[in-house]
Amino acid sequence: MRDYESKDGTMIFGGMSTVDIANKFGTPVYVTNEQILRENYRRIYNAFAAHMPTEVHYACKANTNLAILSILEQEGSHIDAVSIGEVLTCLKAGFPADRIMYTGCNVSNEELQAVVDTGCRINVDSESELERLAKITTDIPISFRITPGVASGHSGKVMTGGKGAKFGIPYNRVIKTYERAQELGFDVKGIHAHTGSGGLTVDPFIEVIEVLCELVNDIKDRTGIELEFLDFGGGFGVPYKPQDPEAELEDLGSIITDMVMNETDIKTIALEPGRYLVCDSTILLTKCVDVKNAGTKNYIGVDAGFNTLIRPAFYDSYHYVSIANKHNKAGVAKYDVVGPICESGDYIARDRALPEAEEGDIVAVYCAGAYGFAMSSTYNSRPRCAEVLVNNGEAELIREKEDFEDLWRHQIVPKRLSKQ
Ligand code: LLP
Repeated sequence: MRDYESKDGTMIFGGMSTVDIANKFGTPVYVTNEQILRENYRRIYNAFAAHMPTEVHYACKANTNLAILSILEQEGSHIDAVSIGEVLTCLKAGFPADRIMYTGCNVSNEELQAVVDTGCRINVDSESELERLAKITTDIPISFRITPGVASGHSGKVMTGGKGAKFGIPYNRVIKTYERAQELGFDVKGIHAHTGSGGLTVDPFIEVIEVLCELVNDIKDRTGIELEFLDFGGGFGVPYKPQDPEAELEDLGSIITDMVMNETDIKTIALEPGRYLVCDSTILLTKCVDVKNAGTKNYIGVDAGFNTLIRPAFYDSYHYVSIANKHNKAGVAKYDVVGPICESGDYIARDRALPEAEEGDIVAVYCAGAYGFAMSSTYNSRPRCAEVLVNNGEAELIREKEDFEDLWRHQIVPKRLSKQ
């Protein structure tokens, strides 16, 4: 896990005091370090591009802030988009359509038409989608998401590649589907699979590459289609705990590209990291507003709950926390860090040894950039928080915090019920 420097006992992030950031922008606030984001992109790209032509398709569901997208666009990233909303957001951030690949799931005809209209690449998820796309156009290059029968992930909720999954063309239908696409007149360029999200072992990547390489060759033998790219999805784990192992990306890049180059005629390898790019480049700063000794437990009550960061409550995910203004101090007691949401499942961290907490302390929640803001909500009528970008000692607001008007903006009270 990446840790951060401190100065005079205060955690420093992107060259700035985290306490100053919290004071200037208010809390809770997501803070992204531009240099770490760029470093993450370059590391994962180079791990594969050192061996063969590579496309990194950022799985933007992890974080669709326009400034973050713009940084990745500058780095040369491509995009994995799962909805027309994501496609339009990435176009707005400046991505050219041909660097966006749309992989939907249970896609409506309306959405399919809208995606076709943008000119982005389409990765087809089902035989039904193929037939429905053919009614709109066959004059576009496509690829298929297949169900590889390999599942991975930090929670059952994010494992996507196992047999019988709702995602992709079932393994035993793959050849038939490529044949059908050929018959319909499509130019089929690639194959794609995604096993799941956030596992820390390399085995699922090796297994899925084996499945994909075999299919690439079977497809060629059975249909004559010579695929150009192979996309083995995302799921690169990130160490959330101090003792978690670092991803061995360079080794993985070398092993995988060797397999693909030795076993197939594939020209380009594609991967779809979401978490890896944006996770540890962002922290969440939240203020301690209440300290409570409840007999068997000590609580640090903070102003971020599962409305702001749902991963602990939803997946039981671990996020490392530190008291940012007591960064060097040793833990003296065990605390649960809990939020303002009226549910007992509302927590950020449990049983953590931390320095003595006081009201006004700033708690830093690590590795908060992936699926943090993206999954936040206004539950309990708490407007969503701000996002800030830090770079070499400068901090810029990249999303204003919402206000109460935002809670009501799209609601309509019929005249007969209105008191205003
Ligand atoms: N490609 C596809 C087709 C995906 O479905 C996903 C994630 C990714 C790539 C990127 O996976 P990553 O590299 O980020 O692990 N909300 C959950 C994670 C859900 C992931 C869904 N799909 C969480 O907070 O852990």
